[in-house]
Amino acid sequence: MKVTLAPMEGVMDHHMRQLLTSLGGIDLCVTEFVRVIELRLPAKVFRRLSPELYNDSKTASGTPVRIQLLGQNPRCLAENASKALHVGSDGIDLNFGCPAKAVNKSKGGAVLLKCPETLYSIVKEVREIMPTNQILSAKIRLGYEDKSLAIENAQAIAEAGADELAVHARTKEEGYRPPAHWHWIAKIRDAINIPVTANGDIFSLDDAKRCMEISGCERLMIGRGALAMPNLAQVIKEKEAPYTWAQTLDLMIEYLFIQTHGDKEKYLPNRIKQWLTFMRLQQPQALTFLHQVRKITTTTEMLEAIRHERSHA
Ligand SMILES: Cc1cc2nc3c(=O)[nH]c(=O)nc-3n(C[C@H](O)[C@H](O)[C@H](O)COP(=O)(O)O)c2cc1C
Repeated sequence: MKVTLAPMEGVMDHHMRQLLTSLGGIDLCVTEFVRVIELRLPAKVFRRLSPELYNDSKTASGTPVRIQLLGQNPRCLAENASKALHVGSDGIDLNFGCPAKAVNKSKGGAVLLKCPETLYSIVKEVREIMPTNQILSAKIRLGYEDKSLAIENAQAIAEAGADELAVHARTKEEGYRPPAHWHWIAKIRDAINIPVTANGDIFSLDDAKRCMEISGCERLMIGRGALAMPNLAQVIKEKEAPYTWAQTLDLMIEYLFIQTHGDKEKYLPNRIKQWLTFMRLQQPQALTFLHQVRKITTTTEMLEAIRHERSHA
């Protein structure tokens, strides 16, 4: 089984990647997207988003990190893919699933799922500029408004030369509403000859087993689930039991120390609150604790609150 940590803009930054990969079980990380419009971006843009580039594109615990690009212009994406590889990215991932209005309006992200020909052109041009030993992956949803082009889109991406495809098993219109339609991933898998990674609503070992059974995939991608249960990758590989609330609080303290590097005092409490909103999906104590810390605005106070909670856990 291979587990990939999902890209999550504004959430899964290099600090979170460092923390979660340190727990083991994650085989690959994909970065938050780099928006590519016209220019060939300078190296610093990629390095800011993925400081792991200074470490051979690996997190501190050695998990490979792949840069994700989001755009609509084949030539421009290809040039930026080349640049990202030049600064050391471990392959390239293309985002064809972003639902954000502004992004879709400028013809990037999920809106491209309406046009298999454009997907083909983008993947082909990016593939052609990349050395053959570098992996090109793509990430899609099942469609924009409906699923009528799901298979055609996947075929276009595979035929254009992508090496791997990750499928978030919902359309753009379905947003994040459950359920994820894992059986559609099986249909896509049957229609193409490159490895498919199943994504969407994997929060537990049971979910992972059902997803693998229904989709037929041995590759899984976890996003919100990995925030809700930090050692989820180890749990679904059946190597560990889910973290207790006490273990999770210890990890939160560790996160505050990792994040403190160079970041503002006010920013950190908000990141902890954001994390708790994902955590409450699996850990009931997280919601109660979120209510308790809601008004906290400094890192020092937040640390005290977590330590206090930990002493009772
Ligand atoms: C806050 C947030 C940010 C996201 N950012 C990205 C992104 O930058 N690129 C991308 O391909 N998908 C992005 N996604 C989608 C996730 O990668 C993933 O496909 C989705 O959350 C479903 O998987 P999950 O149920 O395991 O969370 C984002 C999702 C969320 C909730």
